[in-house]
Amino acid sequence: MDTKKNREIILTRRPDGMPREEDFRLIETDMPQCKDGMVLVKTLYLSVDPYMRGRMSGVKTYISPFELDKTITGAVVGEVVETKSRDLKSGDIVTGNLGWCDYNVADSRELRKIDPKIAPISTTLGILGMPGLTAYFGLLDIGKPSSGETVVVSGAAGAVGTAVGQIAKIRGCRVVGIAGSDVKTKYLVNELGFDVAINYKTTPDIKKAIKDACPNGVDIYFDNVGGEISDAVMPLLNHKARIVLCGQISRYNITKPDVGPRIQGYLLIKSAMMKGFIIMDYADRYEEGIVQLAQWISQKKLKYAEHVIEGLENVPKAFIGLFKGENLGKQLVKVV
Ligand SMILES: NC(=O)c1ccc[n+]([C@@H]2O[C@H](COP(=O)([O-])OP(=O)(O)OC[C@H]3O[C@@H](n4cnc5c(N)ncnc54)[C@H](OP(=O)(O)O)[C@@H]3O)[C@@H](O)[C@H]2O)c1
Repeated sequence: MDTKKNREIILTRRPDGMPREEDFRLIETDMPQCKDGMVLVKTLYLSVDPYMRGRMSGVKTYISPFELDKTITGAVVGEVVETKSRDLKSGDIVTGNLGWCDYNVADSRELRKIDPKIAPISTTLGILGMPGLTAYFGLLDIGKPSSGETVVVSGAAGAVGTAVGQIAKIRGCRVVGIAGSDVKTKYLVNELGFDVAINYKTTPDIKKAIKDACPNGVDIYFDNVGGEISDAVMPLLNHKARIVLCGQISRYNITKPDVGPRIQGYLLIKSAMMKGFIIMDYADRYEEGIVQLAQWISQKKLKYAEHVIEGLENVPKAFIGLFKGENLGKQLVKVV
């Protein structure tokens, strides 16, 4: 009899404001049993993402909330270690929406096999996965950048933001990034080729800093954070500017209604467009995005950073770190 145990992370309490480690618990459970058509997957990397905060709140949005005392799920890359499916064999590397566990049993039809020869398998959760695709489709399909235009991206040093800025550079734009530390702003300019990067935590006047960085105004604003940073961009919009509404991380932990300036006037007088999107809107075009992003990486036009924390027990810490700006690039947890 197999006495090996599994470990999982459950949500024990809905976070009130900033999530805390006590909102989660690591529990030991029996190993899941592999049935016909299923495979047993050993987790290698798992992704923590800002959108998960919304699912912890218990409110249905475009996706259902996590249930209390149940295993949290998200994007995982793992190795098939036992198979009762004709589609996958032991040793295959796969990705899917799986539990925050050492091991998951999954229907092989709900997993996608990865070719580790294309790129390191961790990129499936970052630059060649959901965040990279979000940058690609958000910027190109909604932002529609043209050479010489000015693109401002907030949350610039994160998984989505780093890709947005570099794709905008590939398209010949002037790129201004906004991020929360000097290490991050230096990385954006020196490593990724951003034209200017602003540390929003230390600059004495964010409005002036963005204005100075955008002498020709703003043609595209890729908004990952919302709040005061976005308020500061609105008066700088050019005629027919596009605002790509990707995320609002500054609001995810607020406990009181957030009242900001009314922005309709800026949009109206500049004939500007603001459009929200969820990456799943582009599900039928993911392949196109992955192929292009992989090509840019192989051509050395696109770089990526990964911030890796080790150990399943550290997943809550890694997740909370997203809201403290602890990550540069994609936040991952290496589970083995
Ligand atoms: N629409 C979609 O389908 C979609 C898909 C993926 C992601 N998103 C959104 O895109 C955004 C970025 O996601 P990601 O996965 O790339 O995360 P990420 O940027 O890698 O990590 C989050 C970053 O947000 C910044 N941040 C945290 N709290 C902040 C605050 N109060 N004000 C300003 N910045 C703050 C931190 O960097 P600093 O050090 O710079 O503060 C942190 O490193 C999120 O809003 C996310 O919800 C949307």
